[in-house]
Amino acid sequence: MTSAEGVLRLNDRGDFTVPSASLYPFQWLWDAAFIALGWSTIDPARAWDELDSVVRGQWDDGMMPHVVYHHPSALYFPDPDIWDVGRTPPTSGITQPPVLTSVVLALARAGTSDPATLERARRLWPALLACHHWFHTARADPSTGLVASFHPWETGMDNSPPWDGPLARVPVGELAPYERKDTVAVAAEQRPTTKEYDAYVAIVMHMRSVAYDQRVLLERAPFAVADVGTNAILARADADLVELARLLDVDTAAAEAWAASSRQSLQELWDGASGCFCSRDLRTGTALGPATGASFLPLWSSVISSSQADALCHHLARWESAAGALVPSTDPFSPAYDTSRYWRGPVWLNVNWMVAEGLRATGNDGLAGRVADHSGRLVTHSGMREYFDPASGAGLGAADFGWTAALARYWLEMD
Ligand code: GLC
Repeated sequence: MTSAEGVLRLNDRGDFTVPSASLYPFQWLWDAAFIALGWSTIDPARAWDELDSVVRGQWDDGMMPHVVYHHPSALYFPDPDIWDVGRTPPTSGITQPPVLTSVVLALARAGTSDPATLERARRLWPALLACHHWFHTARADPSTGLVASFHPWETGMDNSPPWDGPLARVPVGELAPYERKDTVAVAAEQRPTTKEYDAYVAIVMHMRSVAYDQRVLLERAPFAVADVGTNAILARADADLVELARLLDVDTAAAEAWAASSRQSLQELWDGASGCFCSRDLRTGTALGPATGASFLPLWSSVISSSQADALCHHLARWESAAGALVPSTDPFSPAYDTSRYWRGPVWLNVNWMVAEGLRATGNDGLAGRVADHSGRLVTHSGMREYFDPASGAGLGAADFGWTAALARYWLEMD
């Protein structure tokens, strides 16, 4: 079994880290943030390099793309030609949850005594500011302020059951033949279905046909959801941007306005009847169930009430007894629950870390400890896998997975 540090070194490509050498051979946005935390335990300068590299993909309008294709590889679909964004380095045309700011703040705070650390954070400041501006302008739903995700890949939880309904309404039409590469590296039962992939590709083709024009997409993207994960992560990132501005001694006004807005709009996704946060379909206005791992990310947001946090803890305790391990990526009481298929049931370490941090911050140390214990057991038993079966503890998806290794070191202090 490769150690956590061994996995980071194995996946290191000089100044960026691939999530998995066999399945994801480029740099991914939220992966880079988690992976930087891992590097910070080995070599802090290398952690900042990771962040600088992912920011090299940023678009002129401020969007941070979810994949940066720093080098060619035949191991992955879709390749840069499919996105056709006309940029160097080539990138995808969509984003991912904005964890980056919170990681920059964590790294900056950890090294405040070192002037080099603050200098590295200062260099990233303009990119972070532009990214938050982009979310709050290009992606803000005018009536609620909630930010929109136009592709399941943007939520980072590709085949999560709440996307089933909106995805089924995407007109797929005639697609040019394409070849998936993911099912070569991983068993098809652990990955999204062919039907889902067709819809994923159809959305990309639609976005490309309108030249990724965010105004057009806000009005008529075929898939448009207010993802509770993205909105919770943004609320936390906005609050962290204010803190970072204070640390760097720059103007906090813009960040404060964004933080007030995201804090308020997150409440739109609260469902008092079930005591849970749920995503919303922005085309139909309907709530999108079932609850998922993302429903607990408002704990990480740092902006919910203590009674909301209590309600989430109640659900987590129920889920723990039903699933065997925390945090299953889908409500284990839902018919959609599947212990081995990607985001439809398996446990993911990045979600566990954010949920555990949120639990600690809201004073729920016991439950935070249990999430850490489950995570530690899964990694000890099955290694640095991409995700884990909550019932059997079996490792699933890619082996030697970047953020699992990074968080095993940074959070679980394992090697
Ligand atoms: C998958 C995951 C996504 C992750 C990417 C690279 O697409 O769903 O969250 O960023 O792989 O690891």
